[in-house]
Amino acid sequence: MVQICGVQSLFLGVTLSFIFATVLQQGFATVAPPTPAPHKEPGRPERGHYNATKNGTICLMAYMGLQLNISYTSIFQKKVVQDVVNIQPGLTNSSGSCDSDNASLELTTNKTNLTFVFTLNTTSNKYHLSEVAISAAWPDMTESFSVSNSSLDYLRGTLGYSYFCREEQTLTVTRNLSINTFQLQVQPFGVSGDKFGAAEECQLDEDDMLIPIIVGAALAGLVLIVLFAYLIGRKRSHAGYQSI
Ligand SMILES: *[C@@H]1O[C@H](CO)[C@@H](O)[C@H](O)[C@H]1NC(C)=O
Ligand SMILES: *[C@@H]1O[C@H](CO)[C@@H](O)[C@H](O)[C@H]1NC(C)=O
Ligand SMILES: *[C@@H]1O[C@H](CO)[C@@H](O)[C@H](O)[C@H]1NC(C)=O
Ligand SMILES: *[C@@H]1O[C@H](CO)[C@@H](O)[C@H](O)[C@H]1NC(C)=O
Ligand SMILES: *[C@@H]1O[C@H](CO)[C@@H](O)[C@H](O)[C@H]1NC(C)=O
Repeated sequence: MVQICGVQSLFLGVTLSFIFATVLQQGFATVAPPTPAPHKEPGRPERGHYNATKNGTICLMAYMGLQLNISYTSIFQKKVVQDVVNIQPGLTNSSGSCDSDNASLELTTNKTNLTFVFTLNTTSNKYHLSEVAISAAWPDMTESFSVSNSSLDYLRGTLGYSYFCREEQTLTVTRNLSINTFQLQVQPFGVSGDKFGAAEECQLDEDDMLIPIIVGAALAGLVLIVLFAYLIGRKRSHAGYQSI
């Protein structure tokens, strides 16, 4: 009889803690809602392997999905439009150049030239994406689109390591150009062979891992409390039996 009560209270406690965990998760979900999809979304871009070589060996490598978000004046619609376009690896050539403190990756398609420039601080051995330049001549553009920004500070990594971001990241270049990156891994300096160095994970990924850890810890805490309460309850009931 006593034991049935104990088992029931343990079961109730575990159920309660699961309900609590579910509520917690829903709470987090409302904190970070999924971004609403604008019409004409091209979907997730395919990841492409892009390299720059020097004297026949790879000196910069990247494996990433890229999506351009450009606003330009459309011939067809006779107004400024916001166009989201995926870079298709199969239709894209990669090249570039590497110096001791400067490396660039050039992605070329039929109608688009996209350049990423990375800078290495040789004192601190830290690198970052310092410049993005693009020129595009799409059929619907009233004039060819050409912008660059050389004072950027994105994708910060350490010499000898690759930079990795599983999460989607938005690199704002200018008011009318941003680049969404997907599962981006890049190593602009210190490449040896044709493999990435150990990955340094981006902050977004680390934040993402924090949520399940918090929920897990809360759940574990609750289970412990319930277990403790059950053990105390059982001890009391036993004591009750003996005194009769
Ligand atoms: C494209 O950029 C515009 C303006 O910055 C923004 O409102 C929109 O959400 C972006 N779209 C995507 C798919 O990133
Ligand atoms: C390179 O890093 C050092 C040490 O962190 C810093 O003092 C210096 O200003 C940096 N140089 C450049 C060009 O950013
Ligand atoms: C891309 O670069 C090549 C070589 O510099 C040039 O011939 C071509 O016109 C450029 N394309 C665009 C769209 O600017
Ligand atoms: C270039 O990027 C910097 C840093 O993100 C930004 O403050 C600046 O406004 C950008 N320049 C242009 C022309 O958009
Ligand atoms: C870049 O290098 C990697 C590793 O060697 C290779 O798998 C990939 O095919 C290369 N990409 C291109 C576009 O040549």
